[in-house]
Amino acid sequence: MEDAPPQPSPGIPLDMSAEDFAHHFTAVTEWITRYLAQAELYPVLSRCHPGEVASGLPDEAPDEPQDFESILDSFRRVILPGITHWNHPAFFAYFGITGAAVGVMAEALAAALNVNAMLWRTSPAATELEELSLQWLRQMFGLPDAFRGHLQDTASTSTMVALAGARHARDPDSRRLGLAGRQLAPLRLYCSAEAHSSVDRAALTLGIGTDNVRRIETDHRFRMKVDALDVAVQEDLDAGATPLCVVATIGTTSTTSVDPVAEVAALCRRYDLWLHVDAAYAGAAAVLPEMRHLMNGWGEADSIVVNPHKWMFVPIDCSALFLRDPATVSRAFSVVPEYLRTPEGGAATNLMDYGPALGRRFRSLKLWMTLAYFGREGYQDRLRRHVQLARDFAGWLGAEAGWHLMAPVPFSTVCFRYSPEGMDPSAADRLNERILEKVNATGEAFLSATRLNGRYVLRLAIGNVRTESRHVERAWHLLRSVARDES
Ligand SMILES: Cc1ncc(COP(=O)(O)O)c(C=O)c1O
Repeated sequence: MEDAPPQPSPGIPLDMSAEDFAHHFTAVTEWITRYLAQAELYPVLSRCHPGEVASGLPDEAPDEPQDFESILDSFRRVILPGITHWNHPAFFAYFGITGAAVGVMAEALAAALNVNAMLWRTSPAATELEELSLQWLRQMFGLPDAFRGHLQDTASTSTMVALAGARHARDPDSRRLGLAGRQLAPLRLYCSAEAHSSVDRAALTLGIGTDNVRRIETDHRFRMKVDALDVAVQEDLDAGATPLCVVATIGTTSTTSVDPVAEVAALCRRYDLWLHVDAAYAGAAAVLPEMRHLMNGWGEADSIVVNPHKWMFVPIDCSALFLRDPATVSRAFSVVPEYLRTPEGGAATNLMDYGPALGRRFRSLKLWMTLAYFGREGYQDRLRRHVQLARDFAGWLGAEAGWHLMAPVPFSTVCFRYSPEGMDPSAADRLNERILEKVNATGEAFLSATRLNGRYVLRLAIGNVRTESRHVERAWHLLRSVARDES
């Protein structure tokens, strides 16, 4: 006789019971509350060695269910030491992100609802809140009414989606024929030498090819040279290539330089090119009337990306993509099999039509809650503080022998280096590498570096909502004392 198939165990709650959930969630909430209040007690940069976290955990999933306390214990003992604390107020590397308290709560609510906002009907609120909060953002930034926005996970995806729209506008048949069947000459993209690598990623993802990204030289302030851009476009036309799109940046990753977007927009009009503006970090500064001039010309773009998860304190991931003509992007992406047809038709937006992913998180909840919580004035206050802190830091550098500001400071990021009088530039490169390593090893601050004009340069980027002047002062103190010890 054959064995009876295994039967489900009777009497086991299918998910955690409500009583257990209330008990454990209270412990989790208490932990988060303490963590957010005391994040600065942790070393900013994780001190883990490669493989350490994984080797601290079983290398196979358990057969038996584990109790939640032991799971939480592993989180504390093994996982936490492997965390680099982006929520630390002295996180000054790259561009900081903050999980503001309100955003943490929004994420918990979104996780509880766990909706998939692929279609309007799969959660009308998720779609409508996304459209509404993007409208709020557009108004806060002073962008023209013509733009409609939606969310992507990251600026890299937003830029890729925008460029797919650009290609569709130029060559609608590429959607059907793919790369192999395309009859057009190679498409060309243009961006400055300082533009983010997401442009290259978009080119390789879309099959445009990284060789077809032309990086245009920059001036002494790291801004795209529009006359060089003009020459490049003309050269490509003469060679029979197809210029497609210019990506101009407001707030480049290394120095936060601002391309002359209005001039680039005029050139794009002249050559009938799509203009995409990458304002992933610095676009947030448009909430400040005194900074609006830095956004000059972005209202003429075809697409703009700003990451509220960068300088607007919304927990990662939250990237806003504004489109002048969303229909072009939806025509580039929309694929509606029978099982996804809905009766709403054109009366409702189906967000699955605006990018490569079908399933979508309820990202707009954290955006909407965070925008509502801080309000326009709350953002203005915090961003002004950051800009002022960066200016203070730049001022301290200027007043101290051997320290040099290496780029203008339009926003809240400072590029600098230590190079005592008479030191060979390559020796100064190595000295700054050591300074960075030593300062980061203190665990009290975390900075990153870049290269400008071939020289190694330190970067201090202020963008965490909890950063106070004492954190910047401490970083400056550490930098000076390490520089003294190392030289
Ligand atoms: C100017 C700029 N654009 C794009 C990106 C990519 O952002 P994401 O990580 O959201 O893809 C960055 C990242 O720092 C950036 O600085």
